[in-house]
Amino acid sequence: MKKILITGGAGFIGSHVVRLFVNKYPQHQIYNLDKLTYAGNLFNLKDVEKKTNYHFIKADIVDGEQIMDLFNLHQFDCVIHLAAESHVDRSISNPLEFVMTNVVGTVNLLNAARHIWQNDYEGKRFYHISTDEVYGSLGTQGFFTESTAYDPHSPYSAAKASSDHFVRAYHDTYGLPIVISNCSNNYGPNQFPEKLIPLFINNIRHNKPLPVYGKGENVRDWLYVVDHARAIDVIFHKGSDGETYNIGGHNEWTNIDLIKVMCKIMDEKLGRVAGTSEQLITYVKDRAGHDLRYAIDSEKLQKELGWVPSLQFEEGISITIDWYLNNQDWLDEVTSGNYLKYYEEQYVSR
Ligand code: NAD
Ligand code: DAU
Repeated sequence: MKKILITGGAGFIGSHVVRLFVNKYPQHQIYNLDKLTYAGNLFNLKDVEKKTNYHFIKADIVDGEQIMDLFNLHQFDCVIHLAAESHVDRSISNPLEFVMTNVVGTVNLLNAARHIWQNDYEGKRFYHISTDEVYGSLGTQGFFTESTAYDPHSPYSAAKASSDHFVRAYHDTYGLPIVISNCSNNYGPNQFPEKLIPLFINNIRHNKPLPVYGKGENVRDWLYVVDHARAIDVIFHKGSDGETYNIGGHNEWTNIDLIKVMCKIMDEKLGRVAGTSEQLITYVKDRAGHDLRYAIDSEKLQKELGWVPSLQFEEGISITIDWYLNNQDWLDEVTSGNYLKYYEEQYVSR
């Protein structure tokens, strides 16, 4: 039996990871630690909240004392660290919050793990979840590999890059048994509708403008969130200490092509005349420092640990659109209050 701490488990990816671990490993105790920011929603975990191996802890990783107390109390064996501020546009408006949560919060967790494990690392693991954005931007050719030099451009990716460096430094300096993965863009159920795919599904449904940054030529490599959770499970159990693994779907889309596909599928699903939703496309001012292209080479993960994505994009995007169309209550709940104020600030002045 292990006590596994998952941070950020009430968020988008974290909730899929918590669900997978709670259901697949009944012999382990799964602790979901989350501050419940605007992006955290316990409703995402309704289906597992009553399981006897699931525990929720409301806490802020920026509060080092509180984190140390919790580690002393629960004596976690392993950490899977997903808690973060995750939205690039918010990082441009408020960089310091990203430094506090993504950098200071990560160092607090590293300190607490180091403190309770006391150099006895048998059966221990600190797994840090990171992003392909730390590698910067590609031109039209090539892929990010695990040895691509870091070159972050947004305050979000700079903070994530910094946290990756701290995690590696704790391995090299104190011998902490760490592993890191860097994943491409995720999509799927439960993603907060400030990110491209859920935002545009919601806007298409409500006939609201689709704010495309710049010319819509930026390229992202999209992976279904459940496949990311499966990769995290494989890396957590089979990855080697001190190693980094890239995770991606080999599924590149320019934003504008992706948006047009979503419009087409939604016209069909909503019974609209073909071409109706595309008329909502509105080009707006580009994101500052907007990375042109991300694309992941996940050969190391596939060859060494045997992970492959399970879903083709056509199937994944259709399931995703159905989920948002069938869960309007979820969308209404998360888009009320603070989010509406943020939405106005982001888009009214563009
Ligand atoms: P998210 O914004 O949906 O969820 C983040 C979660 O962290 C929320 O539940 C929030 O309440 C919690 N949190 C934030 N600040 C906290 C704090 N100070 N203390 C405790 N909890 C806090 O994010 P996501 O998209 O699920 O991303 C999860 C992780 O995966 C992040 O580390 C992100 O950098 C990484 N990642 C995301 C993607 C993507 O496409 N979304 C891709 C690669 C990597
Ligand atoms: O690559 C992994 C990263 O993917 C994660 O680390 C981040 O946490 C996650 O938010 C995501 O970052 P992006 O900036 O790529 O995702 P976002 O959904 O914000 O934007 C995707 C693309 O769509 C990007 O090129 C910007 C563009 N876009 C986005 C929004 C919200 C628009 O054109 N209009 C929009 O309204």
